[in-house]
Amino acid sequence: MKKEIVSILQRFTTETIDDSMIEIPVYTHLGDYALPCFPFAKKLRQSPILIAQELAAIIQDESIEKTEAVNGYVNIFMKRKSFALSLLTTLQKQGKQYGSSNVGAGGIVSIDMSSPNIAKPFSMGHLRSTVIGNSIALLHEKSGYQPVKINHLGDWGTQFGKLLVAYRLWGSEKKVREAPIETLLALYVRFHEEAKIDDSLNDKGRAAFKSLEDGDTEALALWEWFRTESLKEFQRIYDLLGVSYDSFQGEAYYNDKMDSIVEELHERNLLVASDGALVVDVGEHLPPCLIKKSDGATLYATRDITAAIHRKHTYHFVKSLYVVGNEQSLHFEQLKIVLNKMGYAWSDAIQHIPFGLILKDGKKLSTRKGKIILLEEVLKEAILLAEKTIEEKNPQLINKKEVAKSVGVGAVIFSDLKQHRKHDIEFDLKKMLQTEGETGPYVQYTFARACSILRKAPAQIAFEVKDVNDYEWELIKALKQFPSVVLRATAEYDPSILAKYAVHLAQSFNSFYGNVQIMNDSKHLSYRIGLVQSVVIVLEESLRLLGIKAPTEM
Ligand code: ARG
Repeated sequence: MKKEIVSILQRFTTETIDDSMIEIPVYTHLGDYALPCFPFAKKLRQSPILIAQELAAIIQDESIEKTEAVNGYVNIFMKRKSFALSLLTTLQKQGKQYGSSNVGAGGIVSIDMSSPNIAKPFSMGHLRSTVIGNSIALLHEKSGYQPVKINHLGDWGTQFGKLLVAYRLWGSEKKVREAPIETLLALYVRFHEEAKIDDSLNDKGRAAFKSLEDGDTEALALWEWFRTESLKEFQRIYDLLGVSYDSFQGEAYYNDKMDSIVEELHERNLLVASDGALVVDVGEHLPPCLIKKSDGATLYATRDITAAIHRKHTYHFVKSLYVVGNEQSLHFEQLKIVLNKMGYAWSDAIQHIPFGLILKDGKKLSTRKGKIILLEEVLKEAILLAEKTIEEKNPQLINKKEVAKSVGVGAVIFSDLKQHRKHDIEFDLKKMLQTEGETGPYVQYTFARACSILRKAPAQIAFEVKDVNDYEWELIKALKQFPSVVLRATAEYDPSILAKYAVHLAQSFNSFYGNVQIMNDSKHLSYRIGLVQSVVIVLEESLRLLGIKAPTEM
């Protein structure tokens, strides 16, 4: 909409106006849009107050009701009726397609997301990567890209050598079968305890990983088994979250593809020996990127360089995103520089999408110290709490279990996505499940309320807009923002823009609902039902793009 306002204003001044200059006043009496004239004062050698007055006096357009000059601003009031009519008509026509665009022009965007480590619990950090990545994928799809979701499993590396050693020393097949991740984690923790006393264990761990990399069959069989069992546990979480992947090619997948990449690095004279290891220099300001250890074993970075090149060849991506915590920023900086030094100009298309920690009582959650929150337990507790609320509020509801799942899981996802991803967030299950405030359940309840109005409403015929009151107007303006919200959230890789928008739309709807007689006013009935239908479309689509289900009854 701002673009349209700009093109109108531009007819009346030679000064350059762009849409970022257009403001949306907080108070209705200051108009629907406002143009501050301060930026023009210097060049025009005139006070902003005068500039605003002169502009306000000449602006005219069939969509504009009136303009007013106030304190250096031109306040613009739109013709509510025609604005409302055109918006509602568009929404009825486009339905769920409203807000879709083709800015991506079909370009493929690979999204490295979730990527938990085998034999370790699925942490809250991996939850963040999963839900942020999933929403970014959905937003890109809405904006005309083709997302490819890749789960780069942490299924390779020295830790598996350690795990092999620990399993051979203290492991039990039965226990691994019964509770794979719990048992494997305990073995891993024990390994670290014992290695503090007996350093030779570390050497054994490194040797065991080397044997794995060299293709030792017994070692491989064990590794394969740990991987399969772990994946089964992860899959349960993905099913709960409703997230799927296009690829599960993890670190191990690149085992037989690294040699040629190391060779390529060598041919380009990029490898430098350093304390027996091989590294690539990535400039004065960063530590060198480790490619091979002194025993010949590869590293996390070796696998990521190989994976990046493999992805480019496989998908011909226009963008390649990595949704991984803030703490790995250095790694991705190094990755880009190495690829760039290898002569791959497309390394520019690689982008780290970092996010902050999840804190519990202000402290970081970590896997090794035992202070972990098991995600599956968290989700199950959220579902249980949601079930309780439903039991209190609507015991008659038919598919309670299904709805409780959507609400419980939705609450966890929403509380994560509503804050900018770079912030650390405090984990508070009770708070995220509240039905008031900026929560998932609040948006879901609002959606269900709108659906229930429609169930009671007469079948919709063509609507007529007679007049537009302030509540309706706020709602209409909120609906109008949706397409630009989607574009901004996509471009900035920032689902929180959309989550905040969903809360705003829900609030506008609830104040409309609380103050306007929807059903008992036949003069406005058809148009108000059209409004409710539009809210249903946009709220459902907003939740979908966040990866959250929208039950029609709660
Ligand atoms: N498995 C890693 C971890 O849990 C994350 C992997 C992220 N993706 C990547 N291509 N490096 O820390």
